[in-house]
Amino acid sequence: MRATYIQTLRDQLQPSLNPNGYKVLDLFAGCGGLSVGFEAAGFDVTGYEMNRDACATYNASLHGKCIQELLTTETVFPAADVIIGGPPCQPFSVIGHQAGQEDRRNGLEVFAHAVKSVQPKVWMFENVRGLLGRSKEYLDTVLAKMTNMGYAVEQPLIINARHYGVPQNRERVVVVGHRLPAFLWPEKLEKQFTVRSAIGRTARRTPRDGRFLTQAMDCYIAKYEKASCCRQPRDLHLDMPARTLTCRNLGGATGDMIRLRLPDGRRRLLTVAEAARLQSFPPWFRFAGSHTSRMNQIGNAVPPMLALMLGNAVKDALLGE
Ligand SMILES: C[S@@+](CC[C@H](N)C(=O)[O-])C[C@H]1O[C@@H](n2cnc3c(N)ncnc32)[C@H](O)[C@@H]1O
Repeated sequence: MRATYIQTLRDQLQPSLNPNGYKVLDLFAGCGGLSVGFEAAGFDVTGYEMNRDACATYNASLHGKCIQELLTTETVFPAADVIIGGPPCQPFSVIGHQAGQEDRRNGLEVFAHAVKSVQPKVWMFENVRGLLGRSKEYLDTVLAKMTNMGYAVEQPLIINARHYGVPQNRERVVVVGHRLPAFLWPEKLEKQFTVRSAIGRTARRTPRDGRFLTQAMDCYIAKYEKASCCRQPRDLHLDMPARTLTCRNLGGATGDMIRLRLPDGRRRLLTVAEAARLQSFPPWFRFAGSHTSRMNQIGNAVPPMLALMLGNAVKDALLGE
């Protein structure tokens, strides 16, 4: 079963042998989760990212290059057919910091500036589901600007990665605008993968670099689960998709942490390789930086298999022009 899933990642996430001729800019590219999928769909992708480790991972693992740069509303971009990205939304999503909308580093403002100056045929961004909650009004003002630039803006889609070849429940919002006759969202896949299919072979083992929970952490978890009326322990269940992997719960500092329970009752955190596999990163991907930095890159990423489906949808829309 595991071989099937890993083989799927290996086969489907290779950079395409049939480049489609379209140029993509990936803004706030992180380690390149979104870019991997677009490269596999045949796009020529350039990333922009300010974090040094994430850029190093990107440049070691993708064909395209990642430029290390702090993006602002004054950044000058080269010509491109498509702009994609995962703009950070913290400046406007935190209560009491709404003035952050005016922040030149606010990801959505930078994204809108890039679209305005490059005028791509298609743009797409993904973000946390919360973007459709408290920040919806702000999102609407940004999308109205994009509409005024002549883009057809599709209804934002809440997408769960588990329906697109990723063994993880991960809900995100994806927003697309284009100047094409049509855009169709990718179809959900029939097959869903489980934790076992991704990391079943190692999940019950004690890895050399294994990080175990202390007795005090076990006690904390027991209290946390009792207080939150948790009906099922939050240890990973091998025959289900994983809970959403985030920087916070991969870091291992909270009761909400993602962990495996071994047959002898001990609990351990995921290894970097296991976290990467649950996010559908292909086996050749090499993460740079400290343990914390690598887990942050993984927790932040768009799962490459989901990115591939989105990339194929953008490609089909462009080819239908
Ligand atoms: C949610 S992550 C993007 C993940 C990426 N889409 C992927 O699939 O791997 C957001 C990234 O934006 C970067 N970032 C935030 N503000 C930035 C800025 N002003 N300029 C460049 N990068 C920025 C962060 O370092 C972080 O890596």
